[in-house]
Amino acid sequence: MTRDIHSKAFDKGTKTKLHLYRQYVEAWLPVFMTNRSEYAKKGINIYDLFCGPGHDATGECGSPLILLDTLNVYKSNPQTCHHSPVKIFFNDGAKYKVEKLEQCICQKYGDLENVHINYSARKFEDIFPEMLGNLKNRDQANLVFLDQNGINALDKNNFLQLIESHKTDWILFVASNFVYRFRDHPSIKQYIDIASCECNNKYQIHNVVANWYKDLIPDGMEYYISQFTILKNNNIYGLIFGTANPRGAAKFLTACWNIDPVYGTANYDIPTRGKAVQQQLTLFPSSPRLQHFKDSLREELQSGNLTTNKDVYLFALNNGFLPKHASENLKAFKSEGLIERGQISLSYKKIFKENAVEKIRLKA
Ligand SMILES: C[S@@+](CC[C@H](N)C(=O)[O-])C[C@H]1O[C@@H](n2cnc3c(N)ncnc32)[C@H](O)[C@@H]1O
Repeated sequence: MTRDIHSKAFDKGTKTKLHLYRQYVEAWLPVFMTNRSEYAKKGINIYDLFCGPGHDATGECGSPLILLDTLNVYKSNPQTCHHSPVKIFFNDGAKYKVEKLEQCICQKYGDLENVHINYSARKFEDIFPEMLGNLKNRDQANLVFLDQNGINALDKNNFLQLIESHKTDWILFVASNFVYRFRDHPSIKQYIDIASCECNNKYQIHNVVANWYKDLIPDGMEYYISQFTILKNNNIYGLIFGTANPRGAAKFLTACWNIDPVYGTANYDIPTRGKAVQQQLTLFPSSPRLQHFKDSLREELQSGNLTTNKDVYLFALNNGFLPKHASENLKAFKSEGLIERGQISLSYKKIFKENAVEKIRLKA
């Protein structure tokens, strides 16, 4: 489990993980670099606490260089170049990796204007509480990447403290197969306790882990957890994403659906999930998962559990779908004669910024 991934070429699963990270960073950075709100003007912080040396044995970029490449692109774009200060914290327990990374960054990027990089070679266990203190004290936007080798970075206590910071989005890598295999062992249960959770096939393991985190969210707290499963060497791993902001959740899920356009859940074909079907009237392929979402959305609207466009938007996100999927379904319900009124907006701006919450009634 603790093999050094940087001593050889990154495998396919690692490449998928980094691809998803790149997509999220590409979507996240401009939101805050161009945001003129008071808190964004104070600066944004990015913590990569298991950063590695910057690349694999073949020179393929790891997470720190993915971040800096993306920042560089935005710095050369006139719309994003005058940006808020960016503070980056690169940490890895292996000192030689951090030294290699610092050298590589100095050579490749020189001095990046308005970007301050802090390097440290400390154990995650020691640096995490300090980071939490910073997240609380500085009222700024934060992105935290926890690309651990194993499973123990976010136990219940760490998770509950991390989600207290409402301006922090985070991405966690978990060796979910390992959690599942040793789920009854106290040394695993002390971090992630899924001993009493049901899991009928191995392809669900990462969802079970993600659900364990979801269940820890205190009642009444608006918080979004999303996940993406990664098959690596025939074992199940995955990313878990957390945010207090629906827009953040939509951005992460957009990255997932870009990688898996039919299911939005994994980097491989799950044998049990059924074949994609090309729909006749739209450009998008459909799948049993999308069909199931349509059926549940119809039922929830008809039963009155969902009554507004905001409810529908959040229902989509909480089930791993995009507002555009829900929007397609609302259009379909309209053409089936189930909704009378015209266009219903599922735009983030309208619902969450302009508070344009509209009632939706679906005929039974
Ligand atoms: C999966 S790799 C991270 C890869 C990196 N994100 C990249 O893209 O290259 C995990 C890293 O965690 C470091 N590590 C392992 N245990 C650690 C600990 N307790 N604290 C901090 N870093 C640790 C390892 O040295 C390794 O570089």
